[in-house]
Amino acid sequence: MRAIAEAPSKVIITGEHFVVHGAWALAAALPRRVRVEVAPANSFGVSSDRFGEGDDAQLLPVSRVVDAMAREFSVSSSVRVSISSAVPEGAGLGSSAATMVAVAAAYSRLNSLRLGADEIVRFSMVGEQHVHGNPSGIDPNISARGGVLLFRPGSRPRKVALDSSRTLIVSYSGRRRSTKGQINTVARMKQKHPGLFSMLAKGVSSLSLEAADRLREGDMEGLGGLLAVNHAVLDTVGVSNDILDRMVDLCASLGSYGAKLTGAGGGGSVVAVAPEAKEKSIVSGLSARGFETFKVEIPSEGVRSWSKR
Ligand code: MEV
Repeated sequence: MRAIAEAPSKVIITGEHFVVHGAWALAAALPRRVRVEVAPANSFGVSSDRFGEGDDAQLLPVSRVVDAMAREFSVSSSVRVSISSAVPEGAGLGSSAATMVAVAAAYSRLNSLRLGADEIVRFSMVGEQHVHGNPSGIDPNISARGGVLLFRPGSRPRKVALDSSRTLIVSYSGRRRSTKGQINTVARMKQKHPGLFSMLAKGVSSLSLEAADRLREGDMEGLGGLLAVNHAVLDTVGVSNDILDRMVDLCASLGSYGAKLTGAGGGGSVVAVAPEAKEKSIVSGLSARGFETFKVEIPSEGVRSWSKR
């Protein structure tokens, strides 16, 4: 008997970083997924299509999730975990959270634990804290629940229901970065300028609530304007860089309604919204400059799991 789970990657539409400090953020699940298979074994082991066998950076957070669940439910942690991923690492698209969520869901399925999204998120966070230090929890929440969510720590995530799909453009700079380092950069800025930071956090929180309304109403032009403002604020707190600014400017010159960095910044990806007639030229314009770029339809469903003999 084996269990398999697939969990989606994510894009943060607005509010990253400030969400760590209590602001609302808006995120959507993306169709690219991480697949995890868990099977009983003689001892614990992890393999991945990216890292091969037993790479420490992958093994440790995964083993933390499995150990926490094994302890709580008194089940065996001797399992083989096999990971295969269609999500680029370090790209700001939630690859580690999707992995942790899929591990928790597959392990839950293998042991017939029947855990709901809250519990899957709780156990995924054990691995996420190991990887990122002090994450807000937005990444595992969107990966477990799917769809589009307004999220802030300490509140129930709010589902944003869409009457039809919406198109986003996601473009990967090709530069990997560490979320932990980026979170620390923002924490230092907050320490240095607490008054300014609190004002920016309040502004970004209302911006995310408004962005959810614009998205719900299909007002992509209004949403694009908010993305541009959010990018400027992220630049102010030190998480953008030349390459991301260049990509955002390029989206504007190719006719987007607006674009911003998404996720931790310092590399990673940008997200843009555009009139339908411009989407193709934005994707080809960014791709021609060497950035892996794709159109995505949101919403996309959350984690799913099944067993196999
Ligand atoms: C990372 O996807 C989003 C950050 O806001 C960190 C977090 O919320 O955990 C940068």
